[in-house]
Amino acid sequence: MKDKLLLNILHEVQDKEGYLSEKSLKKISVEYNIPMSKLYSVATFYTMLRTKKQGKYVIELCGSPSCVLNKSREIEKFLERELKIEIGETSKDDLFSVYKTSCIGCCDEAPAMLVNGEPYTKLTVKRVKEILEELRKNANS
Ligand code: FES
Repeated sequence: MKDKLLLNILHEVQDKEGYLSEKSLKKISVEYNIPMSKLYSVATFYTMLRTKKQGKYVIELCGSPSCVLNKSREIEKFLERELKIEIGETSKDDLFSVYKTSCIGCCDEAPAMLVNGEPYTKLTVKRVKEILEELRKNANS
């Protein structure tokens, strides 16, 4: 099986279930006759694939040059402080998982991040604080 097809399968399952659980990977392994070791090596190689349960909102903060030059590190530190987690972790309330990603194509409006795939640009700490408040409100409604 070509990796491209395998990536489509893994994305499909992740989109449906939120992440690639061991149970899901075993099912794919049996169905497509792919060794678990290969599935894990692919699932852990690509940063857009997740093998751990994710928060309701997955935040991917761009860590590429245009965003770093426009102070994305301040936003990164704010997210870690505000959510009491480090990059790559999920908040205790299971609302937010935060990752760093490479360029998301919004360099002209840096710094930028994705929340569940939706772009948020021209970020400041104040704006990110408002975005988190809005997401918390939406999660409880
Ligand atoms: S460098 Fe951050 S969006 Fe391109």
